Amino acid sequence: MALIEIKDVSKVYGFGDATTIALDEVSIDIEKGEFIAVMGPSGSGKTTLMNILGLLDKPTHGSYKLSGRKVSKVGKNRRAKVRRDNIGFIFQSFNLLPRLTILENVALPLAYKGVTQTKRLKTAARTLEQVGLSEREYYLPNQLSGGQLQRASIARALVNGPSIIIADEPTGNLDSVSARVVMELLSDIHKMGNTVLMVTHNPSLTRYASRILYMLDGSIVYDEATAVGQMPDRVQRAVNSLRKSTDDEKLANVSAMIETMPEPAEAAKKPPKKTKKKRTRTKRSKK
Ligand SMILES: Nc1ncnc2c1ncn2[C@@H]1O[C@H](COP(=O)(O)OP(=O)(O)O)[C@@H](O)[C@H]1O
Ligand SMILES: [Mg+2]
Repeated sequence: MALIEIKDVSKVYGFGDATTIALDEVSIDIEKGEFIAVMGPSGSGKTTLMNILGLLDKPTHGSYKLSGRKVSKVGKNRRAKVRRDNIGFIFQSFNLLPRLTILENVALPLAYKGVTQTKRLKTAARTLEQVGLSEREYYLPNQLSGGQLQRASIARALVNGPSIIIADEPTGNLDSVSARVVMELLSDIHKMGNTVLMVTHNPSLTRYASRILYMLDGSIVYDEATAVGQMPDRVQRAVNSLRKSTDDEKLANVSAMIETMPEPAEAAKKPPKKTKKKRTRTKRSKK
């Protein structure tokens, strides 16, 4: 039994003429202990997929089983409980509360459990130590660097002891040195046996992953296992062709390059859909 099993999951936003199919009948099994890197252009459905897998959002259609239990149709409260017990989130923009100290931010997810405040702060302090941020406990978020903020938000994600970590572009706002620190932490979390799902625009970060997904227009068009520490040939080729450039933006465009190199075998696997609803091509927000 896979840890995560989703079958024919779709997510449709809007009504009538203005609907967007953010996810189009996506099916995937994820085993415990995988480190999955999700790539794909802006608007391809990566965040929508992460939010559904992380139980922040519900699919419009399709089924989702977590550890063999069906969670696609459970009510809001139940979903929130399953989420808090199993899943930790890391966001590109950190999402720390500005008026709380770093320690209080990290302790926050423990509040629902009825743990005493002393115990909450103690656990939070221990988790901050794990990410090397003990000396910043009593600082406010605006007194920390981006890299420190992301480490604090990793501590917040870990404080409940979840076994699944979902990171949506965790290094998107970081310089390369801080990004590396964050990736090493995620890698440690993975090595401890946890499952990590990470969205990234940076192909070189796929070397931390054990499996790479590539999304396009709400579908997974590429799904390949890879050895941790290595980049698959296809990603490597795309990176090499841009090697002379130091421009980060060009590197991010590797995503688009992968898209133009369909693997014939992969493409053939996907049967054509006869009654595919046309996607609206309204403005896509640029990231
Ligand atoms: N809350 C929403 N309401 C309407 N459309 C949305 C909403 N969230 C996402 N979308 C649309 O769904 C598609 C997928 O978005 P998203 O999952 O954020 O993609 P990605 O993370 O790959 O950039 C996009 O076309 C986006 O505009
Ligand atoms: Mg996104």
